[in-house]
Amino acid sequence: MRMHTRVGIIGAGPAGLFLALLLSLEGIDSIVIENRSRAEVESTIRAGVLEQGTVDLMLEMGIGQRMHREGVVHHGIELRFDGCGHRINLYELTNGRAIMIYPQHEVIKDCIAARLQQGGQILFNVQDVQLSAVASDQPIIHFMHEQEQVELHCDFIAGCDGFHGVSRSCIPLSVQHVYSRAYPFGWLGILLQAPPSAKELIYAYHQRGFALVSTRSPEIQRMYIQCDPQDDIANWSDEMIIEELQARLVTDNNWQLRVGPIIQKNIVAMRSFVIEPMQYGRLFLAGDAAHIVPPTGAKGLNLAIADVRHLARALALFYQQQREDLLAAYSATCLQRVWRTEHFSWWMTSMLHRFPDDDPFQQRMQRAQLDYTVNSHAASMSLAENYAGLPFSVQP
Ligand code: APR
Ligand code: PHB
Repeated sequence: MRMHTRVGIIGAGPAGLFLALLLSLEGIDSIVIENRSRAEVESTIRAGVLEQGTVDLMLEMGIGQRMHREGVVHHGIELRFDGCGHRINLYELTNGRAIMIYPQHEVIKDCIAARLQQGGQILFNVQDVQLSAVASDQPIIHFMHEQEQVELHCDFIAGCDGFHGVSRSCIPLSVQHVYSRAYPFGWLGILLQAPPSAKELIYAYHQRGFALVSTRSPEIQRMYIQCDPQDDIANWSDEMIIEELQARLVTDNNWQLRVGPIIQKNIVAMRSFVIEPMQYGRLFLAGDAAHIVPPTGAKGLNLAIADVRHLARALALFYQQQREDLLAAYSATCLQRVWRTEHFSWWMTSMLHRFPDDDPFQQRMQRAQLDYTVNSHAASMSLAENYAGLPFSVQP
């Protein structure tokens, strides 16, 4: 079967879905293809922190109603070390910016519903996705859908298929540069059926390793502890996880973790990764397909959305004014924010985790950085503006 669309989008994650919605606002048609089922895409547990710019964009796009109702705005975060909590007042330090706690899979549900409601096409459960002729002006996506072999002819292809997708490999090795770092630790994440233990997120530095207290709803909490990335989750009983959280979060003023049944647990490895350039011919990579940040600071989703904002704008100017300059600048434009965010995520990760090979000197460096971050107005402000999200600069 032969199909045609202006922009063929591979992947129905945040990058692909936001791109389809942004393009439709510009009157540009697209088709999203996704290799998982709708149910799977809508239920995968990921982070849940939206930057101010992401929140504003969702409201502008008309997909923010449920987020506005059900999400919770946080004006600060806590950094906890040496038994003491220090609040970073994001709101005051950024002139009124904040973050929204609204899980990524809820964002995904809202995007899919909005796209289908406007008659947009999202093909789920596709298989054997391959790209061809990406350097020509009629690139093709080949795949199987409902037992049929499909050729989707496009003007452009957006590779929004995440870190394990196929798009990135279409950039020839001779033109690509990869920058990456694997961290010697991972995060063991749990969903806990209990009321919130705190009003805001807590990032804790402790001799036993990093811990994070986050939330999903008044009934379900999300928490993480640093662990060996090779460790098997089967080695961690629920009691061990709770004990470890309590030990790492302990305070001098008898703060208590509210506990309950653990309803989900898993271990994720952590890495930083960037491919340059993010474009080759008529293939444009966006989101995790092009870059990964470690989860400290929850930037992955927000960064993916920043990419597709640039891409949608560049494509709109191409179709409306035959301008190719923004498309040509796409990679360089995105990479500015990508590297800023890579640095911030690496910095938070480095400051808050125990490194297996660290020595007393390195630990003193981390302590000095933590002290400075919470005690200096300038340093707190720098954390706050990055955490709440740097403003998105629109190109002319
Ligand atoms: N063909 C079609 N779809 C694919 C293929 C393929 N070959 N490979 C992967 N996909 C799909 C995945 O199933 C997933 O739904 O592409 C989607 C990619 O979504 P994400 O991994 O969420 O990536 P992205 O949209 O860039 O969002 C980045 O979301 O998932 C988080 O940690 C991630 O926070 C980061 C942000
Ligand atoms: C989450 O809620 O899953 C979360 C929150 C903050 C982070 C990372 C993940 O930095």
